[in-house]
Amino acid sequence: MFRRKAEERTGSPEALRLESVRRVYGAEGNQVNALDGVSLSLPKGSFTAVMGPSGSGKSTFLHCAAGLDQPTGGRVFVDGEELAGRNEAALTKFRRERIGFVFQQFNLLPALTVMQNVTLPLKLAGRKADPEQARAVLARVGLGERLHHRPSELSGGQQQRVAIARALVTRPSVLFGDEPTGALDTRSARDVLALLQEAVRMYGQTVVMVTHDPVAASYADSVLFLADGRIVGRMTAPTAEAVAERMTHLSDEIIPAVA
Ligand SMILES: Nc1ncnc2c1ncn2[C@@H]1O[C@H](COP(=O)(O)OP(=O)(O)O)[C@@H](O)[C@H]1O
Ligand SMILES: [Mg+2]
Repeated sequence: MFRRKAEERTGSPEALRLESVRRVYGAEGNQVNALDGVSLSLPKGSFTAVMGPSGSGKSTFLHCAAGLDQPTGGRVFVDGEELAGRNEAALTKFRRERIGFVFQQFNLLPALTVMQNVTLPLKLAGRKADPEQARAVLARVGLGERLHHRPSELSGGQQQRVAIARALVTRPSVLFGDEPTGALDTRSARDVLALLQEAVRMYGQTVVMVTHDPVAASYADSVLFLADGRIVGRMTAPTAEAVAERMTHLSDEIIPAVA
């Protein structure tokens, strides 16, 4: 039984914990260590950016942490509960209740209105699709006037704000974003980042965001640097300049693969 009462869900001070997580892709003899022993603990209400060169394992990290992919080894805990050891149906249920995910390409359902897109996760989680709750979260992201529009009638920035509302409406333990500003112009990106920051600061949301943009990373409380599937650095209170500087030296730290 992993279904617990709401008040008990606040028991763990950790929103996310990884213990020696590994993910190996490919058949024997042709293997890639996409994640090579990642351990971390993120407290509730933290905003973490994950950076690293292309191929360093950022997406693999996010997918393993969010239960979208199964690690080859190690353990993942969300809100104190281990992801492993569930069947696919139980894992899907857990994800629907506890995990929010925002993608680079928004992934809204084009046939549904803004309102329908946002109430869908509540329906899928078997909760009462309270229109007031959906309206409130859409008002928070600045789309209170666009409830009955379809995604194609909105700008990219507005679509991503709908996707964030959709991810927040279930009040997930962790909101994950894989390059959530990667497809946006500078101004829309800033709106989206300010929104994520507000979710953390005003509502105590935990956010973990992969980005390759030092400016985006500077909105987080701390930055984790990945290289070759390992955490090779951390920075708290990041500035865009400091992050950019760190990134330029990151490639020096990658041990070249010797054939
Ligand atoms: N499905 C897969 N099959 C085989 N190799 C993969 C797969 N997904 C990712 N990889 C490899 O794992 C490593 C990390 O990939 P990824 O997590 O996508 O990195 P990033 O998001 O930092 O660019 C890369 O070497 C990539 O080629
Ligand atoms: Mg990636």
